[in-house]
Amino acid sequence: MKVVRKISELRGLIQLEKNLGKKIGFVPTMGYLHEGHASLLSHARTENDVVILSIFVNPTQFGPNEDFDSYPRDFERDEKIASKEGVDYIFYPSVLEMYGDNATVSVVVKDRNDVLCGKSRPGHFDGVVTVVSKLFNIVNPSKAYFGKKDAQQLAIIQGLVRDLNFDIEIIGVDIKRELDGLALSSRNVRLSIEERENAPMLYECLKETRKMFEESNDLDNAIRSTKAKLMENQLGSLDYLEILSYPELKKPDKKTTTFIVAIAFRYSTVRLIDNIIFKKESEKMEIKNV
Ligand code: PAJ
Repeated sequence: MKVVRKISELRGLIQLEKNLGKKIGFVPTMGYLHEGHASLLSHARTENDVVILSIFVNPTQFGPNEDFDSYPRDFERDEKIASKEGVDYIFYPSVLEMYGDNATVSVVVKDRNDVLCGKSRPGHFDGVVTVVSKLFNIVNPSKAYFGKKDAQQLAIIQGLVRDLNFDIEIIGVDIKRELDGLALSSRNVRLSIEERENAPMLYECLKETRKMFEESNDLDNAIRSTKAKLMENQLGSLDYLEILSYPELKKPDKKTTTFIVAIAFRYSTVRLIDNIIFKKESEKMEIKNV
Protein backbone atom coordinates (compact mmCIF):
# COMPACT_ATOMS: atom_id res chain seq x y z
CA MET A 1 0.00 0.00 0.00
CA LYS A 2 1.35 3.39 -0.98
CA VAL A 3 0.43 6.76 0.49
CA VAL A 4 0.37 9.54 -2.11
CA ARG A 5 0.10 13.23 -1.24
CA LYS A 6 0.56 14.82 -4.66
CA ILE A 7 -2.02 14.88 -7.47
CA SER A 8 0.62 14.59 -10.21
CA GLU A 9 2.20 11.54 -8.58
CA LEU A 10 -1.17 9.79 -8.16
CA ARG A 11 -2.06 10.51 -11.78
CA GLY A 12 1.21 8.92 -12.93
CA LEU A 13 0.69 5.81 -10.81
CA ILE A 14 -2.91 5.39 -11.99
CA GLN A 15 -1.85 5.76 -15.61
CA LEU A 16 0.67 2.93 -15.15
CA GLU A 17 -2.09 0.71 -13.68
CA LYS A 18 -4.45 1.59 -16.53
CA ASN A 19 -1.77 0.80 -19.12
CA LEU A 20 -1.76 -2.71 -17.65
CA GLY A 21 -5.51 -2.89 -18.24
CA LYS A 22 -6.37 -2.68 -14.53
CA LYS A 23 -9.84 -1.61 -13.34
CA ILE A 24 -9.78 1.13 -10.72
CA GLY A 25 -12.25 1.24 -7.80
CA PHE A 26 -12.41 4.43 -5.74
CA VAL A 27 -13.64 5.12 -2.19
CA PRO A 28 -13.65 8.80 -1.19
CA THR A 29 -13.72 9.49 2.57
CA MET A 30 -12.84 12.08 5.17
CA GLY A 31 -10.97 9.47 7.22
CA TYR A 32 -11.33 8.31 10.82
CA LEU A 33 -12.31 5.04 9.22
CA HIS A 34 -14.82 2.60 10.70
CA GLU A 35 -16.65 -0.55 9.60
CA GLY A 36 -18.91 1.50 7.30
CA HIS A 37 -15.90 2.74 5.32
CA ALA A 38 -14.40 -0.77 5.50
CA SER A 39 -17.54 -2.15 3.90
CA LEU A 40 -17.15 0.27 0.95
CA LEU A 41 -13.50 -0.79 0.64
CA SER A 42 -14.37 -4.46 0.71
CA HIS A 43 -16.96 -3.98 -2.08
CA ALA A 44 -14.32 -2.10 -4.08
CA ARG A 45 -11.74 -4.83 -3.41
CA THR A 46 -14.06 -7.55 -4.77
CA GLU A 47 -15.06 -5.68 -7.92
CA ASN A 48 -11.79 -4.04 -9.07
CA ASP A 49 -8.08 -4.75 -9.67
CA VAL A 50 -6.84 -1.62 -7.91
CA VAL A 51 -8.46 0.08 -4.90
CA ILE A 52 -7.85 3.76 -4.21
CA LEU A 53 -8.97 5.34 -0.95
CA SER A 54 -8.93 9.10 -0.51
CA ILE A 55 -8.73 10.71 2.92
CA PHE A 56 -9.44 14.41 2.83
CA VAL A 57 -11.42 16.46 5.34
CA ASN A 58 -12.90 18.81 2.79
CA PRO A 59 -13.19 22.39 4.15
CA THR A 60 -15.64 23.55 1.47
CA GLN A 61 -18.42 21.24 2.68
CA PHE A 62 -18.34 22.59 6.25
CA GLY A 63 -20.29 25.73 7.18
CA PRO A 64 -18.60 28.53 9.19
CA ASN A 65 -20.05 27.26 12.48
CA GLU A 66 -19.59 23.59 11.76
CA ASP A 67 -17.03 21.07 13.00
CA PHE A 68 -14.22 21.27 10.41
CA ASP A 69 -11.52 21.90 13.04
CA SER A 70 -12.80 19.33 15.51
CA TYR A 71 -13.62 16.66 12.90
CA PRO A 72 -11.82 13.51 14.17
CA ARG A 73 -8.55 12.69 12.43
CA ASP A 74 -6.09 9.81 12.95
CA PHE A 75 -4.07 8.97 9.87
CA GLU A 76 -1.97 6.20 11.43
CA ARG A 77 -5.06 4.33 12.55
CA ASP A 78 -6.64 4.83 9.10
CA GLU A 79 -3.52 3.44 7.41
CA LYS A 80 -3.80 0.21 9.42
CA ILE A 81 -7.48 -0.25 8.54
CA ALA A 82 -6.83 0.54 4.87
CA SER A 83 -3.98 -1.94 4.69
CA LYS A 84 -6.18 -4.64 6.28
CA GLU A 85 -8.86 -3.96 3.66
CA GLY A 86 -6.37 -4.43 0.81
CA VAL A 87 -6.19 -0.81 -0.33
CA ASP A 88 -3.49 -0.22 -2.98
CA TYR A 89 -3.17 3.58 -2.76
CA ILE A 90 -4.24 6.10 -0.14
CA PHE A 91 -4.58 9.57 -1.62
CA TYR A 92 -3.98 11.93 1.32
CA PRO A 93 -3.64 15.46 -0.04
CA SER A 94 -3.32 18.73 1.86
CA VAL A 95 -5.95 21.46 1.49
CA LEU A 96 -3.44 23.51 -0.52
CA GLU A 97 -2.76 20.58 -2.86
CA MET A 98 -6.49 20.15 -3.50
CA TYR A 99 -7.60 23.77 -3.77
CA GLY A 100 -4.46 25.80 -4.42
CA ASP A 101 -4.58 29.29 -2.92
CA ASN A 102 -6.98 30.86 -5.40
CA ALA A 103 -9.80 28.51 -6.46
CA THR A 104 -12.07 30.34 -8.92
CA VAL A 105 -14.60 27.72 -10.03
CA SER A 106 -16.93 25.41 -8.07
CA VAL A 107 -19.82 23.06 -8.81
CA VAL A 108 -23.35 23.99 -7.69
CA VAL A 109 -26.23 21.62 -6.92
CA LYS A 110 -29.55 22.79 -8.40
CA ASP A 111 -31.99 20.17 -7.17
CA ARG A 112 -32.57 18.09 -4.04
CA ASN A 113 -30.52 20.43 -1.85
CA ASP A 114 -33.48 22.35 -0.40
CA VAL A 115 -34.51 19.45 1.86
CA LEU A 116 -32.96 17.39 4.68
CA CYS A 117 -29.24 18.18 5.18
CA GLY A 118 -29.24 20.58 2.22
CA LYS A 119 -31.77 22.74 4.05
CA SER A 120 -30.00 22.73 7.42
CA ARG A 121 -26.46 22.94 5.98
CA PRO A 122 -26.57 25.59 3.22
CA GLY A 123 -23.72 25.17 0.73
CA HIS A 124 -22.79 21.74 2.10
CA PHE A 125 -23.64 19.77 -1.04
CA ASP A 126 -21.96 22.33 -3.32
CA GLY A 127 -18.77 21.62 -1.35
CA VAL A 128 -19.35 17.87 -1.64
CA VAL A 129 -19.93 17.84 -5.41
CA THR A 130 -17.01 20.22 -5.97
CA VAL A 131 -14.53 18.02 -4.12
CA VAL A 132 -16.00 14.79 -5.54
CA SER A 133 -15.74 16.20 -9.10
CA LYS A 134 -12.10 17.11 -8.44
CA LEU A 135 -11.38 13.66 -7.00
CA PHE A 136 -13.16 11.96 -9.92
CA ASN A 137 -11.04 13.98 -12.37
CA ILE A 138 -7.85 13.07 -10.51
CA VAL A 139 -8.58 9.35 -10.03
CA ASN A 140 -10.83 8.68 -13.02
CA PRO A 141 -12.04 5.31 -11.68
CA SER A 142 -14.40 2.79 -13.32
CA LYS A 143 -16.48 2.57 -10.15
CA ALA A 144 -16.85 4.76 -7.07
CA TYR A 145 -18.43 3.62 -3.80
CA PHE A 146 -20.73 5.67 -1.54
CA GLY A 147 -22.70 4.68 1.57
CA LYS A 148 -26.47 4.81 1.83
CA LYS A 149 -25.87 6.30 5.29
CA ASP A 150 -25.58 9.61 3.39
CA ALA A 151 -28.52 8.85 1.13
CA GLN A 152 -29.01 12.46 0.00
CA GLN A 153 -25.31 12.69 -0.88
CA LEU A 154 -25.58 9.43 -2.86
CA ALA A 155 -28.61 10.69 -4.80
CA ILE A 156 -26.92 14.04 -5.53
CA ILE A 157 -23.74 12.28 -6.72
CA GLN A 158 -25.82 10.08 -9.04
CA GLY A 159 -27.11 13.39 -10.45
CA LEU A 160 -23.55 14.78 -10.67
CA VAL A 161 -22.21 11.91 -12.81
CA ARG A 162 -25.28 12.03 -15.03
CA ASP A 163 -25.36 15.81 -15.51
CA LEU A 164 -21.60 16.39 -15.86
CA ASN A 165 -21.07 13.19 -17.92
CA PHE A 166 -18.58 11.44 -15.67
CA ASP A 167 -18.02 7.96 -17.08
CA ILE A 168 -18.04 6.40 -13.61
CA GLU A 169 -20.41 3.83 -12.16
CA ILE A 170 -21.66 4.87 -8.73
CA ILE A 171 -22.27 1.97 -6.33
CA GLY A 172 -24.46 2.54 -3.24
CA VAL A 173 -23.54 0.40 -0.23
CA ASP A 174 -25.84 -0.51 2.68
CA ILE A 175 -25.55 1.19 6.08
CA LYS A 176 -23.35 -0.51 8.69
CA ARG A 177 -24.71 -0.33 12.23
CA GLU A 178 -23.55 -1.08 15.77
CA LEU A 179 -25.28 -4.05 17.43
CA ASP A 180 -27.68 -1.64 19.14
CA GLY A 181 -28.69 -0.12 15.79
CA LEU A 182 -26.68 3.11 15.84
CA ALA A 183 -25.37 3.83 12.34
CA LEU A 184 -21.57 3.93 12.32
CA SER A 185 -20.17 7.43 11.91
CA SER A 186 -16.76 9.02 12.44
CA ARG A 187 -18.55 11.56 14.64
CA ASN A 188 -19.87 8.92 17.10
CA VAL A 189 -16.61 9.17 19.13
CA ARG A 190 -17.61 12.67 20.15
CA LEU A 191 -20.83 11.57 21.88
CA SER A 192 -20.79 11.65 25.70
CA ILE A 193 -21.47 8.33 27.45
CA GLU A 194 -25.04 9.39 28.12
CA GLU A 195 -25.56 10.54 24.52
CA ARG A 196 -24.07 7.32 23.16
CA GLU A 197 -26.57 5.33 25.25
CA ASN A 198 -29.37 7.49 23.93
CA ALA A 199 -28.35 7.56 20.27
CA PRO A 200 -29.77 4.18 19.13
CA MET A 201 -33.17 5.85 19.52
CA LEU A 202 -32.60 7.54 16.12
CA TYR A 203 -32.89 4.21 14.31
CA GLU A 204 -35.79 3.16 16.58
CA CYS A 205 -37.65 6.35 15.62
CA LEU A 206 -37.03 5.71 11.93
CA LYS A 207 -38.35 2.14 12.20
CA GLU A 208 -41.35 3.30 14.19
CA THR A 209 -42.17 6.04 11.67
CA ARG A 210 -41.91 3.62 8.76
CA LYS A 211 -44.13 1.08 10.56
CA MET A 212 -46.76 3.68 11.36
CA PHE A 213 -46.72 4.96 7.80
CA GLU A 214 -47.04 1.43 6.41
CA GLU A 215 -49.91 0.57 8.73
CA SER A 216 -51.88 3.80 8.52
CA ASN A 217 -50.93 5.08 5.06
CA ASP A 218 -50.93 8.50 6.69
CA LEU A 219 -47.57 10.16 6.18
CA ASP A 220 -48.22 13.34 8.17
CA ASN A 221 -49.52 11.45 11.16
CA ALA A 222 -46.55 9.05 11.18
CA ILE A 223 -44.12 12.00 11.21
CA ARG A 224 -46.11 14.04 13.74
CA SER A 225 -46.33 11.30 16.31
CA THR A 226 -42.60 10.41 16.19
CA LYS A 227 -41.70 14.10 16.27
CA ALA A 228 -43.76 14.56 19.43
CA LYS A 229 -41.73 11.81 21.09
CA LEU A 230 -38.43 13.30 19.90
CA MET A 231 -39.34 16.73 21.26
CA GLU A 232 -39.33 15.19 24.75
CA ASN A 233 -35.70 14.10 24.41
CA GLN A 234 -33.70 16.24 26.85
CA LEU A 235 -30.27 15.31 25.53
CA GLY A 236 -30.54 16.97 22.16
CA SER A 237 -32.81 18.55 19.59
CA LEU A 238 -34.41 17.37 16.39
CA ASP A 239 -33.08 18.97 13.21
CA TYR A 240 -35.44 17.15 10.84
CA LEU A 241 -37.55 14.03 10.42
CA GLU A 242 -39.05 13.61 6.96
CA ILE A 243 -40.50 11.05 4.59
CA LEU A 244 -39.73 11.80 0.93
CA SER A 245 -39.59 9.95 -2.37
CA TYR A 246 -36.18 8.42 -3.16
CA PRO A 247 -33.97 9.24 -5.00
CA GLU A 248 -35.94 12.35 -6.11
CA LEU A 249 -36.31 13.67 -2.54
CA LYS A 250 -39.68 15.21 -3.27
CA LYS A 251 -42.90 15.15 -1.30
CA PRO A 252 -44.32 11.70 -2.16
CA ASP A 253 -47.31 11.46 -4.46
CA LYS A 254 -49.62 8.63 -5.40
CA LYS A 255 -47.11 7.22 -7.88
CA THR A 256 -44.24 7.04 -5.36
CA THR A 257 -43.05 3.51 -4.62
CA THR A 258 -39.61 4.10 -3.06
CA PHE A 259 -39.46 6.25 0.04
CA ILE A 260 -36.83 7.51 2.44
CA VAL A 261 -37.49 8.27 6.07
CA ALA A 262 -34.58 10.40 7.27
CA ILE A 263 -33.56 12.00 10.54
CA ALA A 264 -30.95 14.47 11.79
CA PHE A 265 -30.58 14.99 15.53
CA ARG A 266 -28.24 17.35 17.38
CA TYR A 267 -26.49 16.28 20.58
CA SER A 268 -24.29 18.74 22.49
CA THR A 269 -21.36 18.72 20.06
CA VAL A 270 -22.42 16.25 17.39
CA ARG A 271 -25.15 16.19 14.79
CA LEU A 272 -26.07 12.65 13.70
CA ILE A 273 -28.00 11.52 10.62
CA ASP A 274 -29.65 8.24 9.71
CA ASN A 275 -32.26 6.94 7.28
CA ILE A 276 -34.17 3.95 5.96
CA ILE A 277 -35.00 3.57 2.27
CA PHE A 278 -38.02 1.36 1.67
CA LYS A 279 -40.48 0.34 -1.00
CA LYS A 280 -44.23 0.58 -0.65
CA GLU A 281 -47.26 0.76 -2.91
CA SER A 282 -48.72 4.18 -2.20
CA GLU A 283 -52.14 4.00 -3.87
CA LYS A 284 -54.11 4.29 -0.66
CA MET A 285 -51.72 6.67 1.02
CA GLU A 286 -53.14 9.81 2.48
CA ILE A 287 -51.20 12.76 1.12
CA LYS A 288 -52.12 16.25 2.19
CA ASN A 289 -51.21 19.51 0.44
CA VAL A 290 -50.02 17.87 -2.79
P1 PAJ B 1 -17.31 10.34 5.09
O1 PAJ B 1 -18.30 10.88 6.05
O2 PAJ B 1 -15.93 9.99 5.59
O3 PAJ B 1 -17.92 9.06 4.41
C1 PAJ B 1 -17.25 8.40 3.38
C2 PAJ B 1 -18.20 7.37 2.81
O4 PAJ B 1 -18.50 6.39 3.80
C3 PAJ B 1 -19.55 7.98 2.36
O5 PAJ B 1 -19.93 7.45 1.10
C4 PAJ B 1 -20.47 7.55 3.47
O6 PAJ B 1 -21.83 7.42 3.06
C5 PAJ B 1 -19.90 6.19 3.85
N1 PAJ B 1 -20.34 5.79 5.18
C6 PAJ B 1 -20.23 6.51 6.34
N2 PAJ B 1 -20.81 5.84 7.36
C7 PAJ B 1 -21.29 4.69 6.85
C8 PAJ B 1 -22.00 3.57 7.40
N3 PAJ B 1 -22.34 3.52 8.69
N4 PAJ B 1 -22.35 2.56 6.57
C9 PAJ B 1 -22.03 2.61 5.24
N5 PAJ B 1 -21.36 3.62 4.66
C10 PAJ B 1 -21.00 4.65 5.46
O7 PAJ B 1 -19.17 11.32 2.97
C11 PAJ B 1 -18.08 11.86 3.07
O8 PAJ B 1 -17.07 11.40 3.88
C12 PAJ B 1 -17.70 13.10 2.27
O9 PAJ B 1 -18.84 13.89 2.07
C13 PAJ B 1 -17.04 12.77 0.90
C14 PAJ B 1 -17.96 11.99 -0.02
C15 PAJ B 1 -15.72 12.00 1.12
C16 PAJ B 1 -16.69 14.11 0.19
O10 PAJ B 1 -15.86 14.89 0.96
